Amino acid sequence: MKIEEYDVVVVGAGLSGLRAALELSKHWKVAVVSKVHPIRSHSGAAQGGINAALGNTEAGQDDSPEKHAYDTVYGSDYLADQDAVLLMCEEAPKIVVEFESMGAPFSRLDSGLIAQRPFGGAGFPRTCYAADRTGHVLLHTLYEQCVHKNVQFFDEFFLIDLIKIDDQITGILTLNMASGELVIFRSGYVILATGGFGRTYKRSTNAIINTGDGVGAAFRAGVPIQDGEFVQFHPTTLYGTNILITEGARGEGGLLYNNLGERFMLDVAPNAKELAPRDIVARAIDTEIREGRGFEDAYVHLDLTHLGAERIRERLPGIREISIYFAGVDPINEPIPVQPGQHYSMGGIGTKFDGDICETMLSGLYVVGETACISVHGANRLGGNSLLETAVFGRHVGKLMLEKGLPKLPEEIRVMASEEEVIKEIEELLEKWDNSLGKKPFEIQEAMGIALDTKVGVFRTEDELNEAYEEICRLQIEFKNVKVSTSKRKFNFGLIRTLELRNMLDIAEVTAFSALWRKESRGAHSRIDFPNRNDEEFLVHSMVTRDEEGKLIVETKPVKLGQFEVKERVY
Ligand code: FUM
Repeated sequence: MKIEEYDVVVVGAGLSGLRAALELSKHWKVAVVSKVHPIRSHSGAAQGGINAALGNTEAGQDDSPEKHAYDTVYGSDYLADQDAVLLMCEEAPKIVVEFESMGAPFSRLDSGLIAQRPFGGAGFPRTCYAADRTGHVLLHTLYEQCVHKNVQFFDEFFLIDLIKIDDQITGILTLNMASGELVIFRSGYVILATGGFGRTYKRSTNAIINTGDGVGAAFRAGVPIQDGEFVQFHPTTLYGTNILITEGARGEGGLLYNNLGERFMLDVAPNAKELAPRDIVARAIDTEIREGRGFEDAYVHLDLTHLGAERIRERLPGIREISIYFAGVDPINEPIPVQPGQHYSMGGIGTKFDGDICETMLSGLYVVGETACISVHGANRLGGNSLLETAVFGRHVGKLMLEKGLPKLPEEIRVMASEEEVIKEIEELLEKWDNSLGKKPFEIQEAMGIALDTKVGVFRTEDELNEAYEEICRLQIEFKNVKVSTSKRKFNFGLIRTLELRNMLDIAEVTAFSALWRKESRGAHSRIDFPNRNDEEFLVHSMVTRDEEGKLIVETKPVKLGQFEVKERVY
C-alpha cells in the first residue's frame, strides 16, 4: 500500500482548492488531489463573472461591501448566515485586485479599470468579468501561481473515503486512476473542495465530473448534508443540451420572450425584470412553459439581437459559439432557445455552528466552495457570488490553518489500524461489484437524474417529492448489486462512474428527503402545496445524517441573523 504524508491534503483543484493550496504552500507541504487535471475543473466553466463592490462604473459609484452583503442576504431569502456574507463581501474587492495583480486578464472599461456588468438581484453593476470566460481565466491564473509555488499535484486520483479515528481526521483513501492502485494520503488536515454535484440531475449545466465525491465521503463519515433541498435552477440553459447561457447575456441587455412575443418578466418583477434573482426568473420561465406560452412546450426565447454584432462579439463570444454549435442559432440574428436547468447547489457539507465558518464536526476536516454549505447563499445564490466564495474562503481556510498550526495525529499504530479497516471495506465492495449480475451504473444514474428532474424541480409537491424519494430508495437497493463491467483497475471508468454514483445516490436521497421536510417556499425551494415562506418554523438550516439503521434523520441549525432585518422579498 502506497502512503503519502503531507501537512495538508486538499481534495479538488478548482478555484477554492487552488486558492487554499496557494495560501498553505507559503509554509507547509501541500498535496492537491484531483480526479481531473486542475484546468479541467468545473470552475473553468463559470462564465459571467465575480462580484465585488469596486464601483468602477458610473452607475456603480455608490456601491459598497455592505450593499453587496445586503443584496446577498435579501437574495438568499434570509437563509444565508450574515457573518459569513459580510466577511465575503468585505473581502471581495481585495480578492479581485489580488487576481488582477496575479495577471488575470479581466475585461476593461475605457478608463482602464476592471469592467463591471449588472447581474441578477444586484443593486449596482458589480460583476467583474473576462468576456464570458471568467472562470476559465481565474482558474488558469491560480494554477500558474500554484505551480510557481511548488504545490504538489496528484492528478487523476479519485477520493474514495475519509479516514478518521473517533472524530479526528487522519487522511483519505484514493484510487490512482492510471495505475489502479489504492493510495492513502495521511494528514491531520483535509480540505474538501470537490465542487458541486449537479450530475444528480440529468438536465444540468454541470460537467460530468460534478458528482459530489467530497460530499458523499463526508456524509458516509457522519458529517451532515446541510440545506440539501436548495438546488439552483439557472433560468437560461440552452434548450437541448442545457449548456449554460450566462446571466451576463441578460446583464448586457438580453430580453426574455414567450411564444406570444410578450416580455413576461415585466409583470413578474416590474423593477428588476430580466435581472431578478435566478429563483424568480426560473419560476417565471417554468410557468410560461407549463401554461402553454413556451415554444414546443419546452423553452422561451432569450433575445440579444438588439445588442448588435459588435457588442455580442466582444462581450459574449463564448455564448455566440455555443449557440451556433449546439443550437444552430446565431444570437446576432436570432433569439436563443433557453429553459431552466440545474446549475448549482446552495447546500453542501454541513459546517459547525460554533466553529470557524469552514470547519466541520470532524476535527481537521474543512470544506470550501460549492462542496460546502458555509452558508453565504442561503436559499438562493446571486450570480457572480460563486467564484467569489471559492476564492475568499479558499484563502480564508488557508490562513486559518496556518494560524492554528499543525494538529498532532494519533499514534501510528491506531492510524494504521483505521486505514486497514477502510481498505478492507472498499476491497470487499469492489469485489462484490465485479462479481455482480445487477444493473450497470449508467442505468441507475439515468433513473436518478430523471426522478430529480421531473419530481424535485423548480416547483415541488408532496406527492412528487414522495415519489422521487421512494424511487431513489429503490435505486439505492439496486445499487447494492451494481455491475462493474470489468474488474481491471487501470483506467477503469466503469469503476469510477460506480464510485461516483455511490456518492450521488446518497446526495439525491438527501435532496428529496430534505425537500419533503421543508414545508414552506423559500428561495429556490418552491412548494406548490406550501406557497408561503414560514419563518416561524423554517428559518433554520436543515442538517441531514444517516442513523445506525440506515434511515435519514433531520436536525436543524440556527441561521446566523444580523444587521439585515428579515422581510419579504419584492423585486
Ligand atoms: O450565469 C452565469 O454566468 C453564471 C454565473 C454564476 O453561476 O455565478
